[in-house]
Amino acid sequence: MDRVHVFVLAAGKGTRMKSRRPKVLHELCGVSLLSLVLETVRNAVEGDIRVIASPELQEHVEALGARAVIQEPQLGTGHAVQVALADLAPDDLPILIVSADMPLVPTELVARVVSAQVSGDIAAAFVTAQVPLPSNFGRVIREKGRITAIVEARDADKDQLHIDEVNAGMYCFDQAQLRRAVAGLTTNNAQGEFYLTDCLAALVKSGKAIEAVRAAEAADVAGINNRAELASARALLQQRILVSHMLEGVTIVDPSCTYIDVMVTIGPDTTIHPQTHLAGRTVVGSGCIIGPGAQISNSTIGDRVEIIQSVVRDSTVEDEATVGPFAHLRGKSVIESGAHIGNFVETKNTRMGRGAKASHLSYVGDADVGERANIGAGTITCNYDGKKKNKTKIGTRAFIGSNSSLVAPVEIGDGALTGAGSVVLHDVAAGERVAGNPAKPLRKKESLEPT
Ligand code: UD1
Ligand code: CA
Repeated sequence: MDRVHVFVLAAGKGTRMKSRRPKVLHELCGVSLLSLVLETVRNAVEGDIRVIASPELQEHVEALGARAVIQEPQLGTGHAVQVALADLAPDDLPILIVSADMPLVPTELVARVVSAQVSGDIAAAFVTAQVPLPSNFGRVIREKGRITAIVEARDADKDQLHIDEVNAGMYCFDQAQLRRAVAGLTTNNAQGEFYLTDCLAALVKSGKAIEAVRAAEAADVAGINNRAELASARALLQQRILVSHMLEGVTIVDPSCTYIDVMVTIGPDTTIHPQTHLAGRTVVGSGCIIGPGAQISNSTIGDRVEIIQSVVRDSTVEDEATVGPFAHLRGKSVIESGAHIGNFVETKNTRMGRGAKASHLSYVGDADVGERANIGAGTITCNYDGKKKNKTKIGTRAFIGSNSSLVAPVEIGDGALTGAGSVVLHDVAAGERVAGNPAKPLRKKESLEPT
């Protein structure tokens, strides 16, 4: 990998997004534009990274492990580079400049523009692409094939607007040449800004060699300036993510309606059915059946798990457990292996032990449920007393009758039983059987079964 200094341009106002949020913090498939670009740059070259940022971006940039250089006011891309150069003691390394609003740029293309400049020992190399018209990109002006300038769409005349070779917004400059060129920039243009692109024309004028490096596809250099472009880029990135999972052995039944974030990992032989969203830092094991209609975020799913028409957030589902249809797991719930959570069951901050079952219509919150316990239909852990959340403990192989209300804090012992409709206010000892409202121990002979 070539050694360079990297400037990531991210300070622009992003007015066309019409957002309170800085443009480069808008997300595609669960990751911000800025962090996608940083990741690509880190994979392509070696060197320190300066992100030219507005003040409100500073902490985000630092959280991503890069150095923020504040540009305030923002007087254009050329000004951004002037500010970054002032933060860097001169040395011999080239400068790679990338816009933070081009999240789909391939690692290979970043490496290629750097190596074009370095191996050719030229003043600058920059990326161009052939892009369908009309477009807002700066146009590449050539005379007899030789590049002479970049003209911004807003400064271009009618003929120039017909040029479909455009400036992608990624450059590698010889450092000394760049320092000289940006020092001479003016704001004599339609936007009254210092244009970085004018450096290329200045270099050519002073007889220096520059070179265009062609992107393979227009999509690779898509710039995000508004929310329509954000949506198109998201679709492209989504397609790439889905293809990479499919090539690794994941069956995606209908890629047109499956949504998987960048950071998700999935094991082979898992099948993802339509209308499934896998978000954030979700890990899915192998041989699972996920969906249709599963929404899983920031969760860990084991092997051979089935999750159908359900929402799983910030939780863990271990091997061979089954969830749904219509379940909601949240708040760091842990569903241990072989457990079953059925329809209209919500768990919050709950451990369901191995092989335990809650098959229908229950709320199980702040609970610790032992192995192979059975939670009957309509059971509620009454965890909230109006002031605080209390714990319910249910022992191994306990049997909770339908429509039981377990008023926490309360503990049901191993193998204990509550009758249908019990309102349990006090702990139930291991093996004990209680029923009624309030629930009381049953005498030995008293039967729960209908006679
Ligand atoms: C720029 C290029 C254009 C190119 C296009 C590719 C210039 C003058 N034009 O236009 O030729 O086709 O990118 O996408 O460079 N930024 C700063 N500080 C500023 C202004 C901008 O850091 O003062 C940052 C922005 O946050 C953005 C990047 O620079 O990430 C590009 O700025 P933007 O305003 O999007 O430039 P374009 O009009 O798209
Ligand atoms: Ca742009």
